[in-house]
Amino acid sequence: MPACMISVKTLAQNTEVPSLKKTFKTDFLIGAAVNALQIEEKDLKADRLIKQQFSAVTPENVMKAEIIHPGWDVYNFDLADKLVAYALKNNIKVNAHNLIWHSQLPHFMLAIKDADSVRQYFANHITTVAGRYDNKVYSWDVVNEALNEDGSLRNSIFLQKLGDNYIVEAFRLAQKAAPHTKLYYNDYNIEQPKKRAGAIALIKKIQAAGVRIDGVGIQGHWKASNVPMTDIEETIKAFAALHIEVMFTELDLSVLPNPWDGNSAEVNKTARGSEKMNPYPNGLPDSVQHLQARAYADLFRLFLKYKQNVSRVTFWGVNDGQSWLNNWPIRGRTNYPLLFDRNFQPKPAFYSVIATENEK
Ligand code: XIL
Repeated sequence: MPACMISVKTLAQNTEVPSLKKTFKTDFLIGAAVNALQIEEKDLKADRLIKQQFSAVTPENVMKAEIIHPGWDVYNFDLADKLVAYALKNNIKVNAHNLIWHSQLPHFMLAIKDADSVRQYFANHITTVAGRYDNKVYSWDVVNEALNEDGSLRNSIFLQKLGDNYIVEAFRLAQKAAPHTKLYYNDYNIEQPKKRAGAIALIKKIQAAGVRIDGVGIQGHWKASNVPMTDIEETIKAFAALHIEVMFTELDLSVLPNPWDGNSAEVNKTARGSEKMNPYPNGLPDSVQHLQARAYADLFRLFLKYKQNVSRVTFWGVNDGQSWLNNWPIRGRTNYPLLFDRNFQPKPAFYSVIATENEK
């Protein structure tokens, strides 16, 4: 074997994969959503990557009401406590997700008919759960996805039973229970003008009531072929003008066709599959890899431009095989939305993101 080939091989083996959290250390936190297996440290390859790459984690499911609060006075803190211990051990910040959301609610709660009992559930839930993790988690998504696409309030069980002040009340209760924890509003499509206007009105209402809100999370479930860059930039500026942190909290760039027009992350809306809707079951063509890599780089250039305002960028999952987008909105597809492939190897999108740091 010629000497030059040996040296190339040795170089490849010795070259460390760069670290996202180190690369963007002075810019913003870099997070990932983690699942139960990862929290229990049963997914060793993911574990290695989480420690190397991420400075923040968001529990993908284990702090949602259906898991953490399964009965009227029954709480199940097992996995949430493990997550907190895991993060502490590894010097990673926890963004707790979430306190009040219309989805993944426990059955007992959905069966409540009278408004007073809903109000009591609401107060008990926030006080007990947020109170337990004050000083243990960095932040809470206090309210998740409360808005419709036109900016009006979603007709959730909370709106129906508690009236339109429930969001202010949720933040007020969270502030009392978790005085040392940052409090955020989180939603998808709030970069779109009408929904953005609804979010701004909501945030102003919370602020006008004298209640603390520290930041707003733009979920960022977009299509790699159609990231709304101009809307995102306008939204960063508009939210920053409210003097709160701006975050990208559930970033993934799908490469699969969407059964509906536009971007959406309405979890309760699903569709049926077909071969046409699952075009890459055996691997992603180079052209799509590169299109996705360019889209991710464009986004990170924008995040860096506004690094004074953007405090965290979190990916919704660790690797492509673990992404919720393999099963939503159509079950059983093969999607490739993240920076690491199914074997935990960095993709072209990973390197294009890392490269944006050197352009600063
Ligand atoms: C998703 C999880 O990734 C899935 O495992 C679960 O089955 C459904 O919820 N917006 C949110 C997240 O705020 O909590 C959702 O997470 C994705 C959309």
